[in-house]
Amino acid sequence: MRPMSLYRIQDGVAVITLDHPPVNSLNHALRQRIVQALDAAEADPAACALVLTGQDKAFSAGADVSEVGTPAQLAEPILLTVLARVAACRKPVVAALSGVALGGGLELAMTCHGRVARASAQVGLPEILLGLIPGATGTQLLPRLVGVPKALDMMLSGQAQSARAWADSGLFDRVIDDGADLLVAACALARGWAEAGARPASPRERTLDAAQVAAEVHAARQRLTARQRLQPAYAALLDAVAGCALPFEEGARQERAVFLQLVPSRAAQALRHQFKAEREATKLPADVQADPRPVQTVAVIGAGTMGAGIAICALDAGLKVLLLEQNDEALARGQQRIREHYSGRVAAGKMPAAVAEAAQSRLTPTLDWPALAHADLVIEAVFEDLAVKQAVFRQIDAHARPGAVLATNTSYLDIDQIAQATARPQDVLGLHFFSPANVMKLLEVVRGARTAPDVLATGMALGKTLKKLPVLCGNAFGFIGNRIYNAYRKQCEFMLEDGAWPEDVDNALTGMGFAMGPFAVADLSGLDIAWRMRQAQAATRDPRERYVPILDRLCEQGRLGRKTGAGYYTYADGKQSPHTDATVRRLIEEASAARGITRQPLSAEAICRRALLAMVNEAALLLAEGVAARASDIDVVLVQGYGFPRWEGGPVFWARQQDRAGLERELRELAERSGYGWRLGNLDTLLPG
Ligand code: NAI
Repeated sequence: MRPMSLYRIQDGVAVITLDHPPVNSLNHALRQRIVQALDAAEADPAACALVLTGQDKAFSAGADVSEVGTPAQLAEPILLTVLARVAACRKPVVAALSGVALGGGLELAMTCHGRVARASAQVGLPEILLGLIPGATGTQLLPRLVGVPKALDMMLSGQAQSARAWADSGLFDRVIDDGADLLVAACALARGWAEAGARPASPRERTLDAAQVAAEVHAARQRLTARQRLQPAYAALLDAVAGCALPFEEGARQERAVFLQLVPSRAAQALRHQFKAEREATKLPADVQADPRPVQTVAVIGAGTMGAGIAICALDAGLKVLLLEQNDEALARGQQRIREHYSGRVAAGKMPAAVAEAAQSRLTPTLDWPALAHADLVIEAVFEDLAVKQAVFRQIDAHARPGAVLATNTSYLDIDQIAQATARPQDVLGLHFFSPANVMKLLEVVRGARTAPDVLATGMALGKTLKKLPVLCGNAFGFIGNRIYNAYRKQCEFMLEDGAWPEDVDNALTGMGFAMGPFAVADLSGLDIAWRMRQAQAATRDPRERYVPILDRLCEQGRLGRKTGAGYYTYADGKQSPHTDATVRRLIEEASAARGITRQPLSAEAICRRALLAMVNEAALLLAEGVAARASDIDVVLVQGYGFPRWEGGPVFWARQQDRAGLERELRELAERSGYGWRLGNLDTLLPG
C-alpha cells in the first residue's frame, strides 16, 4: 500500500518528497506523513532503499514557527521521534538536499545514512540567533560528521552556508553541480549501498575521541567574545557539544535538557521578540497601503561617506546608479572609495571579480544635473545644512522626471522644509541610512506632512531591495533613532555631573552588552558635530534647562575625539586609554561644582538603569506623538542602528519586563534628577494592558 502523495518509487528506491510548501517546515501533519512514508517504504518490496527530499527551494527550513508554544509542537510524532524512526530504518536512507536545509531540516538530513546536495543548497543551524541551541540532536550529529571545530563554526555563527563550502567536510557524501539531477545521484548512492548489502552506520553510531572533544570545546570556550558570554545560549551550546564524547543517547538527553532550559530564558524571549518585531516593522500601516513606484535607476547626490556607501548598496542590489557631485575632485574621491570597496571584497575572496566588475559597470559618475532625468529615485547625501540641502532640492526639482521619488538622507533636518524647496512635496521623503551605509541594515523611512502613500511604499520597497530593514518614522527631530539616542546621551552626561567618570558609564553599558559606550562613540564620530549643533541651538535653549557644558569645554581645548588624538579619552598610538585623564576629570569636577552637586559614585547597575529609563521615557513620548507607528519598531531601530544588545530585546521589551509601579516611580525620580524642562512620558503607550 502506498497511500501518501509524498511517496513514489524511482529506480527501485522509495522517494519521499516533503510536501509542505513553501519551505517544508516540519509541522505536525508533515511529521506524521514522513513517519507513515518511512513505514511504507520499509515494508515495500519494490524499494531497496529510501531517499528523503524536498523541492528546489527547500529541503526543509526546520521547525514551524507558528507551532512554537502550541500543543501541536509537542504532539507525537515530535521531530525526535521522526529522527529515531529514520535512524532505525533497516534500508539505507539518503537525504537529497536543494534549497535550504536549516535547523530541524538539517538535523533530519544528518540523521540519514547518507547525504547528497546541490552545490547551491544552503545549510545551517541558526538556533543560536534565537537564543537556543539545536534541540533535535544537531549538537551531537554535526561534530560526529565534521569534527568539533567545524561544527562549532556553524553553530556559533548561526549562519547558513552553501553546500559547496562544506563539500570536503564530511557532511555530504556527494555535492553535485546545480545542473545535475539530484534524485538520480541520491537514488544511485542509496541503491549502491543496498545492493552491496552494506548500509553505512548512522552518524549516531560514530564515536569521537573524548580527550580531543574536551580540548576542542575548552579552546572554543576561551575564544567566546565578551558579548557571547553575556548570552546563556553560547556556553550552553558548548556544554551540549561536549556531550558528543558520550554515547549518542546520553549526549542527546543532555542536549535536550539544555535546550528546554533555554526556551523560556529571557534572552531567548528577547530574541524571539526582535525576530517578530523585524518582520512587523517592514509592513506598511493600513493608511499608507499603496503599490510602490518601479525603481531601476537611482541617483545619489554627494559621493562622501554616506553617498558612496548608499551607491554600493544600490549597485549590489543590481540597480543602475548615477553618482552626482559638485566638482571633479569630490567625484573622483567618491569613485575611488567605491573602487577600493570592491577591490577589497574581491581580494578577500568575498566576491568574484566578474560580479564586482558587473556592479561597477552599472555606475555612472557625473557632474551634470540634467542626467538626473534618467533616475527613478534620487537620494541626496550632501552636507547636513538646510540651506545647502534646499539648494540641492531646487536643482533636483528642476531636473528629475515627473513621478521620480526624491529622498534626503538627512539625520536631523526637517523633511518638510526640504520638500518645500520643490514644487512636488508629495514625492519627497526621508531615507535615513546608517553608517557604514553598505553594512548597517537599518533604514529609517521618514514620512513628511505631504509624502504620498506610494512614495512611502517605494521607500519601504527600496529598503527591501537593498536588503535593509526599513522602519517607517514620522518627521520629528532625530526621527526615532537619533531622538532616543540623544535622550540617552544627555542622561549619560547628567551622570558625569552627578559623580560618574566617562569610563564608568561606558564600561557599565558595554558590560550590559552595548557594542560601545556613549563617550567612546562620541570620540569616534568626532565631538565637533555635536558641538556645532549645540552652538546652533544655543539661541533657542531655555537657560533653566539642565545643560552639561563638558563637551563644549573639551572642544574649546581642541579635543575633538579620536581624530585629534584626544576627546573624552586620550588615544596614544590610536588606542583608547582605559581611563580619562586629569584634564577631563578636572573639567567634569568643575561642571559638578558649578551645579552645586556633591559627586557620588554610581554603580554599574544604577548607570544602566538610568540609561535605559531615559530611552524608555523618550520612547513613550515619541509613540504618543506618532513618530513611531508601533512600539516594537523602536526596539528594531535601537538594536539595528545603535548597538543595543539584541538579546536584551530593546528598550520597550526591557520596560515590559519591569514591574509597572516600580518603573513609574523610577521615571519620576529620573525626572527630578534631570531638572527643568524634562518631559515625562506616559507609559500607557508603551505597556500593554
Ligand atoms: P560627507 O561630508 O562625507 O559628504 C558630503 C558630500 O556631498 C561631499 O562629497 C560633498 O562634495 C558633496 N556635496 C556637497 N554639496 C553638494 C552639492 N551641492 N552637489 C553635489 N554634491 C555636494 O558627508 P556624509 O557624512 O556622507 O553625510 C551626508 C549626509 O548624510 C548628511 O546629511 C548627514 O547628516 C547624513 N548622514 C550621515 C551619517 C554619518 O554617519 N556620516 C549617518 C546618517 C546620515
